[in-house]
Amino acid sequence: QIRFHSCAVVGGIQATDTSHPRNSAIRHLTKNLLQKYHKEVRPVHNWSEATTVYLDLFVHAVLDVDAQNQKLKTSIWYREVWDDEFLYWNTSMFDDIREISLPLSAIWAPDIIINEFVDIERSPDLPYVYVNSSGTVRNTKPIQVVSACSLETYAFPFDIQNCSLTFNSILHTVEDIDLAFLRSREDIKHDKKAFLNDSEWELLSVPSTYNILQNSAGDFAQIQFNVVIRRRPLVYVVSLLIPSIFLMLVDLGSFYLPPNCRARIVFKTGVLVGYTVFRVNMSDEVPRSAASTPLIEIFFTVCMAFLVLSLSKSILLIKFLHDERCSGQERPLLCLRGDTDADGTRMDPKAQLAGNTESPICQEHQAQSGTLKEVWSQLRSISDYVQAQEQADQREIEWLALLYRFDRLLFRSYIIMLGLYTITLCSLWALWSSW
Ligand SMILES: *[C@@H]1O[C@H](CO)[C@@H](O)[C@H](O)[C@H]1NC(C)=O
Ligand SMILES: *[C@@H]1O[C@H](CO)[C@@H](O)[C@H](O)[C@H]1NC(C)=O
Ligand SMILES: *[C@@H]1O[C@H](CO)[C@@H](O)[C@H](O)[C@H]1NC(C)=O
Ligand SMILES: *[C@@H]1O[C@H](CO)[C@@H](O)[C@H](O)[C@H]1NC(C)=O
Repeated sequence: QIRFHSCAVVGGIQATDTSHPRNSAIRHLTKNLLQKYHKEVRPVHNWSEATTVYLDLFVHAVLDVDAQNQKLKTSIWYREVWDDEFLYWNTSMFDDIREISLPLSAIWAPDIIINEFVDIERSPDLPYVYVNSSGTVRNTKPIQVVSACSLETYAFPFDIQNCSLTFNSILHTVEDIDLAFLRSREDIKHDKKAFLNDSEWELLSVPSTYNILQNSAGDFAQIQFNVVIRRRPLVYVVSLLIPSIFLMLVDLGSFYLPPNCRARIVFKTGVLVGYTVFRVNMSDEVPRSAASTPLIEIFFTVCMAFLVLSLSKSILLIKFLHDERCSGQERPLLCLRGDTDADGTRMDPKAQLAGNTESPICQEHQAQSGTLKEVWSQLRSISDYVQAQEQADQREIEWLALLYRFDRLLFRSYIIMLGLYTITLCSLWALWSSW
């Protein structure tokens, strides 16, 4: 065991021995570079010269689009490159080392931040940067940015979002730190190689601008990248739009039933329940924001309003028809009652006659004129009743005609609304696909 141990130790020493010269060169170089380095000094010989920081950005993934809180979460790969005039060496003096990595904490670094960030950026704390022999420092890091963005949900699910990421130095003015693009702006704009394709969002482009922000503290250089993304709508079309259109078509089909049919109410109620269940199910699929309501939400509400309107119309119609039927049943009864009354009155004098055999003739005359009067009044009351009934019937018929007209109007509005819905969706889709 001891022999094995000593062997291992010897082996270890030998291994360090073989790589000893290079190892010492790199240590020597690092020591050399950092010995007289002051990281608190901006690395320029001439202080009036600005340090130019070159920025580059790859959008890697869109992690979350939160319309309710107006936040966008993206994963980006960010690179900054600058020249450090104090970090350079003669490669032939250091074993041809062209690049070494140095701890970021040991050298000067620009204080560039993203203006829109609203949450702690989660980026792995990478401790090293690369420096080459002419003093160019490269710092690359992946960042998860949660940025504030004004998200428009109006055209959901055919929406395009435009969120900006603005980089600038938090403290240094443009006289000290200037910004520039590492690649050409066209390259940055159309670079989608790093983007993960199979998410809900599709990267359209990353246009960028350089400008100088002037405020009371001075002029600041800033670079703005606009991340333009568009939603893939297929899943929403299949799960949201098509079912809603089907429900509307079913509802439209109910106009095919005669308007005075009671089954229509049952049918409409069924559709209304179906619609409610559908909306409750879909409520978390539709993004909500206080600023803008999605157009399809408005459409759902309008559809519901139409459903309720036509349902109440059907109920009204059935009520009128029911009234009519009731009065239709009552009428013969009344007539019958009238007949029995008339019979009774007619029988009465006869009974009187039968009862009073010794009655005088004038009495009979009186009785006869009494019955005539009674008949007359009965006839009048009947004719009054019939007239009133006719008037009521007339009014009912007018009401019914009005309701039937309303039914037709509603049907036309349904058609118009469905047409508008379809046209709007198609134009939104056309706008979406024209990007
Ligand atoms: C680098 O060092 C070599 C050898 O020491 C020397 O010949 C050469 O001139 C130096 N180059 C520069 C740019 O100083
Ligand atoms: C160091 O990197 C910069 C930028 O990539 C390049 O322009 C320069 O030529 C490199 N220097 C050496 C000595 O390779
Ligand atoms: C994105 O928004 C910025 C302003 O924030 C605007 O300048 C730019 O034109 C917009 N880009 C697109 C493609 O809409
Ligand atoms: C995403 O798709 C584009 C073309 O649309 C392709 O160039 C790119 O390599 C794809 N990215 C990934 C990560 O697959």
